[in-house]
Amino acid sequence: MVRSLSSSPLLGLGAFLVLAVSSVVLLLSPVHAGTFPSPLRQRFVNATAIDACRSIRFTSKDSRLDYGLVSALGVWLSFYMTSSAQPPTCLVKPATPEDLAAVVKVVGQKRINFAVTSGGHTGNPGFSSTNGILISMKGFQRVVLSNDKSYVDIGTGNIWDNVYQVLEGSGVNINGGRVSGVGLGGFITSGGGFSWLTNQLGLTVDTLQQFSIVLPDGSHQTVTPSSNPDLFWAVKGGGNQFGIVYDVRLATKAQSKQVWGGLKTYTFDQIPAIVNATAAFDVKNEDPKAQIIPTFNFFLGQPGVSLLAFYDGENPPAGTFDMFDSARPFTADWKARGFTDLVRSAPSNATAGHRGAFHTVSLTSYSQSLIEFIVAELNHYGSIGWQHSAFFLSYDVEPFLDYPSKPAAWKHDNSPKPLNIYFAWDSPLDDAFWRKEIVATADRITQKARDEGQKLDGLLLYPNYAIDSTPIDRIYDAASRQRLRSIKARIDPTNVMGLTTFFKF
Ligand SMILES: Cc1cc2nc3c(=O)[nH]c(=O)nc-3n(C[C@H](O)[C@H](O)[C@H](O)COP(=O)(O)OP(=O)(O)OC[C@H]3O[C@@H](n4cnc5c(N)ncnc54)[C@H](O)[C@@H]3O)c2cc1C
Ligand SMILES: *[C@@H]1O[C@H](CO)[C@@H](O)[C@H](O)[C@H]1NC(C)=O
Ligand SMILES: *[C@@H]1O[C@H](CO)[C@@H](O)[C@H](O)[C@H]1NC(C)=O
Ligand SMILES: *[C@@H]1O[C@H](CO)[C@@H](O)[C@H](O)[C@H]1NC(C)=O
Repeated sequence: MVRSLSSSPLLGLGAFLVLAVSSVVLLLSPVHAGTFPSPLRQRFVNATAIDACRSIRFTSKDSRLDYGLVSALGVWLSFYMTSSAQPPTCLVKPATPEDLAAVVKVVGQKRINFAVTSGGHTGNPGFSSTNGILISMKGFQRVVLSNDKSYVDIGTGNIWDNVYQVLEGSGVNINGGRVSGVGLGGFITSGGGFSWLTNQLGLTVDTLQQFSIVLPDGSHQTVTPSSNPDLFWAVKGGGNQFGIVYDVRLATKAQSKQVWGGLKTYTFDQIPAIVNATAAFDVKNEDPKAQIIPTFNFFLGQPGVSLLAFYDGENPPAGTFDMFDSARPFTADWKARGFTDLVRSAPSNATAGHRGAFHTVSLTSYSQSLIEFIVAELNHYGSIGWQHSAFFLSYDVEPFLDYPSKPAAWKHDNSPKPLNIYFAWDSPLDDAFWRKEIVATADRITQKARDEGQKLDGLLLYPNYAIDSTPIDRIYDAASRQRLRSIKARIDPTNVMGLTTFFKF
């Protein structure tokens, strides 16, 4: 793959730091600020936002507030896609609910643009980034298993890796993220969470027992399904529009000491065999403990497949994954192992640190011809990617069984089976191209599935995968939108959370 110098990620970092440094220089020397051309001044020095940062008062010594270069570097390093990072006016890391509430009160009273980030894994610029006040949840890091082991209380500043690490060997597990590095806050609030246990337990939010939240008025409370049924429902997929969730309680399930699975990779010549085997798995597998994610990808000028497999037990029954035996792997690492090791063996970090976007299709099944169509889409973009600074192009096939569900703002009672499309590239000049094409490819795959007879009308798109330009009625149905709006009007009458960005229901 041809990659020109101007599209290297390091130069991207350079440009980002120039933005940050100019804001510091201007901050420190107001006299010189006057000599900068006014568009620069407006862009980099926002007196209103700086005054708001300065007025934040923390009571805990563990809470932090950083400006300029320190905050910009912290931000650059904490986002999965660099296109979702932006240098903020200040970066705050409250460590207590009271200090988090103090920030919410300042942004609400002074009407300051802000964003909330937990794990920084969204592909939508602005959803967890801002040039105003950035609230990082990294100060909320507890993971506490209850004495009777029936639930775990978890701070939303954690990544799932931390939770599995604490539970390893305890005999119980929770229904959370599948790969390394993903945050809890967005996973739960902005979609609901597809897991290795989804066939058995539904989404992560289907195992949510309670959460603690700072509300838009700056008060905080713990919410259960009975204490506030509306808010409990709204937070399960309504995103950052109802307040900032700082703690969640998830139900546990019994977990064997070891599970089975890991990664196999395949070169392009094995793609037809993997396509067949994936379609066969989708038809034949009836064991909810067995799941796979084949990712058809284009990387370093070649198509290939990464195949993650999982079995909830030390040994899958004979026949479970046999359909994949006819394909010859390039690397093979399927084995019995601890759950943490399984999650951390996924190569998710290898494709971080570039510009990128996610988008999605919700399907009822994965036929062989549909997967062949997806591979043809991949090969098309692979062949032109070098002209548009492509780094990695991928289609994640997620052939779940029908899974359990509870009512939630993101409705999933008809078991949508997502396709996750991830395009990563390096030049900001190619943002518009890839953001348009990721929608175009999803639309063609949707049409192909309809042509094959799939009934997709009631199947909604997963907000944690959908690109920000997605029409809202493809994410929430009319009844959910109506209920979201009325709960929002009650909980946030002055629209404080409208000062940050999410899908507009
Ligand atoms: C490598 C990779 C693997 C993934 N794997 C999975 C997977 O297995 N299953 C799955 O379902 N999804 C998966 N996703 C998608 C993932 O669920 C979303 O990107 C999710 O939003 C990430 O949450 P975060 O806290 O890391 O993101 P952030 O970018 O920090 O936040 C995302 C959104 O949630 C809001 N938000 C964050 N924290 C809070 C909070 N505490 N209170 C209120 N709002 C908040 C933000 O404001 C923002 O709008 C994956 C994504 C990537 C990049
Ligand atoms: C400065 O910040 C305030 C508060 O977030 C915002 O309303 C205003 O639009 C910003 N001004 C500029 C020029 O960006
Ligand atoms: C992936 O990156 C995240 C964030 O930088 C880090 O916390 C995690 O440990 C990394 N995972 C692995 C397997 O290296
Ligand atoms: C895949 O399946 C098709 C039809 O079902 C068959 O013709 C083809 O030979 C199979 N390919 C491989 C590599 O198994």
